[in-house]
Amino acid sequence: MDSIIIQGGKPLQGSITASGAKNAALPLLAAAILADEPVIFHRMPHLRDISTMLTLLANQGADVSIDDKEQIRVDTTGSTRAEAPYELVKTMRASALVLGPLLARFGTAMVSLPGGCAIGARPIDMHLKGLEAMGAEIHVEQGNVYADAKNGLKGAPVVFSNVTVTGTENLMMAAVLARGDTTLENAAREPEVVGLAESLRQMGASIEGDGTDCIRIQGVDRLSGGTLTVVSDRIETGTYLAAGLITGGDVTVTDTDAGMLEAYLERLSEAGAHIETGNDWIRCRANGRLRGISIETSPHPGFPTDLQAQFMAIMCVAEGKSVISETIFENRFMHVQELQRMGANIQLDGHTAIVQGVEHLSGAPVMATDLRASASLVLAGLAAEGKTSVSRVYHIDRGYERIEEKLKRLGANIERITPSEHMVYGGQVVNF
Ligand code: EPU
Repeated sequence: MDSIIIQGGKPLQGSITASGAKNAALPLLAAAILADEPVIFHRMPHLRDISTMLTLLANQGADVSIDDKEQIRVDTTGSTRAEAPYELVKTMRASALVLGPLLARFGTAMVSLPGGCAIGARPIDMHLKGLEAMGAEIHVEQGNVYADAKNGLKGAPVVFSNVTVTGTENLMMAAVLARGDTTLENAAREPEVVGLAESLRQMGASIEGDGTDCIRIQGVDRLSGGTLTVVSDRIETGTYLAAGLITGGDVTVTDTDAGMLEAYLERLSEAGAHIETGNDWIRCRANGRLRGISIETSPHPGFPTDLQAQFMAIMCVAEGKSVISETIFENRFMHVQELQRMGANIQLDGHTAIVQGVEHLSGAPVMATDLRASASLVLAGLAAEGKTSVSRVYHIDRGYERIEEKLKRLGANIERITPSEHMVYGGQVVNF
């Protein structure tokens, strides 16, 4: 398993380009199931989760190829298997995003239940209830969801009991080919949901209200193919801006959208960061230590849970106290113990972490536990004195495209070590 080795303490400077967003790309790939023509994707990030989704589509019989411009082409017209088996779903919960499209296209689907994951239980009950409201018959047997809509799905009013991002996306995709009108109330307003709606409209769908909490969809007979562009990754953007701030540096991210990150940027500014934004870029500078401030995660347009761990890393070296409340996932503080190993002063109280900033973190061997937690450990390593090694970086590779290369471009002293580069010496593994 690869590790990332960081020699910390160097202020990062410079400019890098944001990649396409994982969480926007995954539903877009699932939407290819709905098209009766090939779909080409621009700005698809090179990530493990994207490979998993492509394998899932290929497993259903889709023709998947990459052209010389690195654009991905997915043709599902020859797909025959309306299923997502456990072997693939267990490695990526977002595989459940194919349920709505498969049901809309084939009138039947078998998707393995994703089960819990490191950050929480994460059930998909709201996805299933919504599909039932649209006329699907659903039963769960031996860990698999079997869904049938032999006479096709029909539009329906759906009210989500809680905001769910992939739930909103799944039902939106199911509704575009359903008979009649669907309304999704208490819908997610995340930019990735808007990106999906825009792409579906481009394919011929009739959708209004995306970006608000009520989305209205009028079913159409068919969706065409076309060329779709993945929106920029706001979480990756926020992570690289954090890398600049935590090291007392000056980082600009281009090909991004400040409008998607308002709550995050506001909080950084409140903590003392100097922020400038343009049409498609964001620049963040730190003049000395930032101040500790408190945040609470909430659905968009609130503070994103996917940036909570990275923000906590910044707060670990800020001046004063910060109270960080996680309201979306019940177990999203797994970075805390690892940050403590690096000298952070953090106390946990249920869904709240109280961080008392320290002047310096010290490098240490730490272990990645989930995607965003891993990113926070890399950030802490960049700020820490001495060497940090982050193991199990396959978590990071699920969501960050070549993280060490991008950070190196900003001047970080960072290397990826693959197992073949480890040398066993006197019974001990030595990195070189
Ligand atoms: N929930 C239910 N029932 C459901 C669906 C959700 O109880 O049927 C609960 C979840 O357990 C959670 C809350 O509702 O407590 C919100 O979950 P949501 O459904 O919004 O999360 P998700 O759609 O599974 C997406 C992102 C996550 C991101 C969350 C919240 C994708 C592929 N994943 O997950 O991204 O944290 O929304 O914004 O879009 C990540 O990229 O690191 C990541 C975890």
